[in-house]
Amino acid sequence: MEIVIVESPERVSATAAEIIAGLVSEKPNAVLGLCTGSSPKEVYAELVLRHRAGLDFSRVTTFNLDEYVGLPHTHPASYHRQMAEQLFDHVNVTPERVHIPDGMTKDIARTCADYEAAISAAGGIDLQLLGIGENGHIAFNEPTSALESRTRLKTLFARPGLDASLPRHVITMGIGTILDARHCVLIAFGQRKARAVAQMVEGPLTAFVPASALQRHPLTTVIIDEAAASELTLAEQYREIQRLKPDGQRGGT
Ligand code: GLP
Repeated sequence: MEIVIVESPERVSATAAEIIAGLVSEKPNAVLGLCTGSSPKEVYAELVLRHRAGLDFSRVTTFNLDEYVGLPHTHPASYHRQMAEQLFDHVNVTPERVHIPDGMTKDIARTCADYEAAISAAGGIDLQLLGIGENGHIAFNEPTSALESRTRLKTLFARPGLDASLPRHVITMGIGTILDARHCVLIAFGQRKARAVAQMVEGPLTAFVPASALQRHPLTTVIIDEAAASELTLAEQYREIQRLKPDGQRGGT
């Protein structure tokens, strides 16, 4: 993993947006894996600004990680709505190239299989943006999710902060689906993510901390602020590696 520690949440978002915009400029038909939650909001805001400055999304294909089951796409908590509000309504994506699991489907198994097939048909995901949950989950892969899991139905754990008014069932890409992306970019900021970040980067590879599966991925960039980095044992060494890194080198240690 490449660990990039920056001074503020704003720098986390700006750094991630820079990587995504760089890919889209280099490869206008890039396939992006996108996430929701509070973490990526400013990344999307920055991409909207870059679009206004000329960045073209018309040939980009997107796949979102997950969605609630049974929540209408117009519901404020629906990931369809959040993505529309934060990104898709403000850039020139081609609607047919935008994919989010359909939580309103009558046939969940079929929807999940079709989602995997659509990712393959698009040539796989070039860059997957990820957040991390306080219990170490990625997408909606809760602790004990199979490390080789694919897109499927999940039941969410009850945990502090989980909105009781929202469905407990979701469709989520699996950990195996995420690991197939060619580059994973995980962002986190704030003290409340520090423990999960330390477990992901320095803890054992375990289904109990789903994000630790990224230790097996050949090209993962973890972008965090000082607060989210505060429980890392080797933080100083990660900083030094970034300082010594040859220009343009990206990737694992
Ligand atoms: C939800 C999402 C995840 C996200 C996580 C963290 O579980 N399904 O994709 O990473 O929340 O959310 P936040 O960024 O708001 O802390």
